[in-house]
Amino acid sequence: MLLINGKTTSEQIKSEIAQRVAEIKKEGGKIPHLAAILVGNDGASQTYVGAKVKSCQQVGFESTLVRLEETVTEEELLKAVADINENPEIDGLIVQLPLPKHISVEKVTNKIKPEKDVDGFTPSNVGRMTLGWPSYVAATPYGIVELLKRYDIETSGKHCVVIGRSHIVGSPMSILMARNEYPGNCTVTLTHSRTKNLPEITKTADILIVAIGKPEFVTAEMVKEGATVIDVGIHRIADESKKSGFRLIGDVKFDEVAAKASAITPVPGGVGPMTIASLLYNTLLAAEGKIY
Ligand code: GUN
Repeated sequence: MLLINGKTTSEQIKSEIAQRVAEIKKEGGKIPHLAAILVGNDGASQTYVGAKVKSCQQVGFESTLVRLEETVTEEELLKAVADINENPEIDGLIVQLPLPKHISVEKVTNKIKPEKDVDGFTPSNVGRMTLGWPSYVAATPYGIVELLKRYDIETSGKHCVVIGRSHIVGSPMSILMARNEYPGNCTVTLTHSRTKNLPEITKTADILIVAIGKPEFVTAEMVKEGATVIDVGIHRIADESKKSGFRLIGDVKFDEVAAKASAITPVPGGVGPMTIASLLYNTLLAAEGKIY
């Protein structure tokens, strides 16, 4: 069984990006600059944004964190996005989700200039990705594509089953795995909460990508012998034996599924660390004008 190590792979990607930044510096070019807007005080969002800013520093990028109160108006947030859109110093912009209920995610996402949309969330980038045009691909699906590539997982002609149809993971993942290039050329089945006979379908998967958001949802009997299993889930569960008082688990029951799989991503240390590496890579592409 091959353990697909997202931690070491993401470190490798970050060191490749850092090398490119060193070259840019030598050439006197534009140092990539990522801006993040964080609204409110949600603990998880603060942790994620903090990790993104820290990773920028690690690879030599500039970063700007704009913090706005939970009570900020939609108009004020749209103005903050517009200001960054117009700032030539800044190459990439992310607005951390979720946003407070009184703010329209659609309006805010649509305000981000597609050229700076390094999260790949705007209609323009989603449309371009779907057409197979140059685009920013959302961090999680992009991270998974990169893992499959770097671990040389054969995908052509395989049956890829995706569990979960979110805009951020499942839906783009299904499109990427079906496209006419490596990694892709799969026959794809996109399943979700209303799918009937789910285990019957997952048992036929050569590649199983799980992004359902339910702890240890996928068990050994749902998986074919020799499948590649990618676990996107991450859940905190109480564990008295840990100093932190909790441990992290995924959407897959790891031990029993690992015994059957030919390759599998662990949680933590699988897909998670790849998402920040993808965001940094998209920001580098933005600074170098490689997409638009
Ligand atoms: N919230 C959870 N995941 C993400 C992400 O990839 N980008 C942004 N902006 N917010 C998120």
